[in-house]
Amino acid sequence: MHIKAIRGMHDILPEDIPYWQLIEASIRRLTRCYGYREIRFPIVEEKILFKRTIGEVTDIVEKEMYEFTDRNGVELALRPEGTAGCVRACIEHGLLYNTTQRLWYMGPMFRHERPQKGRYRQFYQFGMEAFGFIGPDIDAEMILWIDKLLQTLHLRNGLVLNINSIGIPEERLQYRQHLIDYFSKYSDVLDEESKRRLHTNPMRILDSKNPLMAECIANAPSITSFLGADSRYHFDSLCQLLDTLNIHYILNPRLVRGLDYYTNTVFEWTTDVLGAQGTVCAGGRYNGLVSLLGGQDTPAVGFAIGLERLIELMKINQPVLTQTIDGYLISLGEKAEQQAFLIAEKIREQCPHLSFIVHCGKGSLKRQFKAADKSGAHFALILGEDEINKNLITIKFLREDKPQKTLTLVELLKFLEK
Ligand code: HAM
Repeated sequence: MHIKAIRGMHDILPEDIPYWQLIEASIRRLTRCYGYREIRFPIVEEKILFKRTIGEVTDIVEKEMYEFTDRNGVELALRPEGTAGCVRACIEHGLLYNTTQRLWYMGPMFRHERPQKGRYRQFYQFGMEAFGFIGPDIDAEMILWIDKLLQTLHLRNGLVLNINSIGIPEERLQYRQHLIDYFSKYSDVLDEESKRRLHTNPMRILDSKNPLMAECIANAPSITSFLGADSRYHFDSLCQLLDTLNIHYILNPRLVRGLDYYTNTVFEWTTDVLGAQGTVCAGGRYNGLVSLLGGQDTPAVGFAIGLERLIELMKINQPVLTQTIDGYLISLGEKAEQQAFLIAEKIREQCPHLSFIVHCGKGSLKRQFKAADKSGAHFALILGEDEINKNLITIKFLREDKPQKTLTLVELLKFLEK
């Protein structure tokens, strides 16, 4: 019987790990650099948390959640995103009480979507959430941070930032009615999905990729004309800040996002080199969510990056990224085999920057050299009968045309330290 991984849930193999580690290391360095702190919260939460925050009539809640009832009859769900759990944890532990927070998290999320390239049922997100800041400066800081990460990973070119303001709920309510009136006139053009959304979530019709509806959507009223003075001011100030920071963006009045909690600023970074799943990062403001979950009224903003998609982009730019091995220790004869581990430990202590393998499983010199070569090591250290008796070690360069040397351990350590 062959048991296979679940559809849409993939293994990340050692070949790909260098990409993950490079991204993770950059994220850890840059979040620290900007004063953001890590938070970790469970993968499983009560289902109601996601229903309430993401919205009952969103794709995620309607169709995509992994839900189950546990042995005590409690309705649970695997987290489809991080914001809800992050806010729940912050309220529960009093992290938002009369203070601000800059937080980040990273981990697997679960959505029962139709799997395809760039769209999985278990995928990894890195997210940032900031709480307690009302002005557009924090929105700009987050966008600046993303821009910095993309620059660090050499991915800045080819990604486009779209931004929009979807206003506050009262403004959206007015807009919603205008959209319903508008789309109702085109019911012959709307597909089944859009007809269904017309009275539940009409803004999502704007997201439709159906080419037959493109013209109708292009002529639909835009949210921008429904924004009040405060929403306008917030958005204009953000745009000015981004201009000052020299961050290029496209004003996209059709950008609405698929989760219900957003207010005012929304943004997405997209690319056309990944095919249909081109949104690499998305987020926005959600000023009403903390109070919706029972916390003190707290403005908030955040985003999440889909790490698989970021890695796909990296692979296009940098097709080879491997974990390298520096040295491989070969030993011949019982005495040498016993000494091999001790000598390797001394090298590891003195030269912790080196990646170093000790041959296990005995074998002829030829076999051990073959294994050393296969490991990709730059040099082999040889510990034979002769070397042991004279307290020496031979170093042989496997990738360069340099003569081998036989050195004392002290001389070897000095050489490797360099
Ligand atoms: P989202 O737009 O649902 O937002 O997801 C954010 C990113 O996660 C997407 O842009 C995409 O890169 C990645 N992603 C989503 N679904 C999949 C999938 N099935 N397979 C692979 N990657 C995927 C959120 O999740 C919000 N919580 C973001 C946020 C944080 N807003 C405020 N704070």
